[in-house]
Amino acid sequence: MTVYVASTTAPVNIATLKYWGKRDANLNLPTNSSISVTLAQDDLRTLTSAATSERFEKDTLWLNGKEESLANKRTQDCLQDLRDLRHQLESQNPSLPKLSQWKLHIVSENNFPTAAGLASSAAGFAALVVAIAKLYKLPQDMSELSRIARKGSGSACRSLFGGFVAWEMGDAEDGLDSMAVEVLPLEAWPEMKAAILVVSDVKKDTSSTQGMQLTVATSDLFKERVTTVVPKRFVEMKEAIVNRDFTKFAEMTMKDSNSFHATCLDSYPPIFYINDTSKKVIRLVHSINAFFNETVVAYTFDAGPNAVLYYLEKNENKLFAFLYKLLHQVDGWEPKYNKDQLNGFINTFENEYKDKIEFFIDPELYQGITRIILTRVGPGPQDSEKSLIDQSTGLPK
Ligand code: DP6
Repeated sequence: MTVYVASTTAPVNIATLKYWGKRDANLNLPTNSSISVTLAQDDLRTLTSAATSERFEKDTLWLNGKEESLANKRTQDCLQDLRDLRHQLESQNPSLPKLSQWKLHIVSENNFPTAAGLASSAAGFAALVVAIAKLYKLPQDMSELSRIARKGSGSACRSLFGGFVAWEMGDAEDGLDSMAVEVLPLEAWPEMKAAILVVSDVKKDTSSTQGMQLTVATSDLFKERVTTVVPKRFVEMKEAIVNRDFTKFAEMTMKDSNSFHATCLDSYPPIFYINDTSKKVIRLVHSINAFFNETVVAYTFDAGPNAVLYYLEKNENKLFAFLYKLLHQVDGWEPKYNKDQLNGFINTFENEYKDKIEFFIDPELYQGITRIILTRVGPGPQDSEKSLIDQSTGLPK
């Protein structure tokens, strides 16, 4: 039997101007435009292989080694859009095999443990859409494909690009103008690095989808956020990125995270995503910036307590003198940094900073943090040599 197979990887992205609120839940159309940084794939990525054959009996998905349902509406919407586009090609060129009519086998794998506490839906839907678009040899560009990924999960549309990415909310009712565009390519500002502090969390968060619906329905502050605060910030943050102005970028990133979490607290009943450890990280970041009298690091939090810190490579020693001192017990430093480098961070802290510090350093901070992921800005979806599907059987390898 002939089995057609295509594979791709897709990255995780972390918003610096948050998407929070839908104006159309069916099409996943947002109440505001948003901006994100795409993270490197050596640390965090989804690899997806998609296959189709006349002989396959049903659409099937295997996720991290387990068969999962494809029945949810969002996935179905993505598959339908991709099949429609393939169908258009087949009607224009009748000699093409009728892939649009055959069932799909999709195998997908993350390179990071679910236990890392990171939502993987953005990378997952981005990889799904790109793998099938590749399988179907669709001519659509990444922005056009991002409209499809958006229907899977809003934030997924931003994972179709590397570097610095905007999701333009658009205003069309059918969502045709609600898609991702590149703000600045990775190559233009590769010095942007990120440290993710994975915070221990026992309770189950309100999902983003439910949380944002509650905020839209009940928060007064939210109205101010989407009508006044974000439209202005969207323009200014894009400008700061294009000008590679870290100070402005960092300040707006922190303010936007705070604004988003303020609308969560203003929802009724209130939603709490950040916890006490998150708040300690917020205080620490402001203290470090005040200590250096310079914005060397920014924090941002999504729908959970994990902190994502953005900083420039040139300030790594300054930042890590503090971070390593406080979090050396936490997993994730090695093998990214060798013993000499790690000792270097400690020495800088002990010899240069320790005696000048006037703020409280919480020696227990590490207790709330389970791991640190040290990464940086990275590229968009990449072709993958590695396939997760056996071409002779059409089943997972
Ligand atoms: C806080 O994209 O997960 O991370 O569209 O309902 O799937 P759905 O929501 P999702 O929401 C992400 C919310 C956020 C902010 C952001 O990524 O912009």
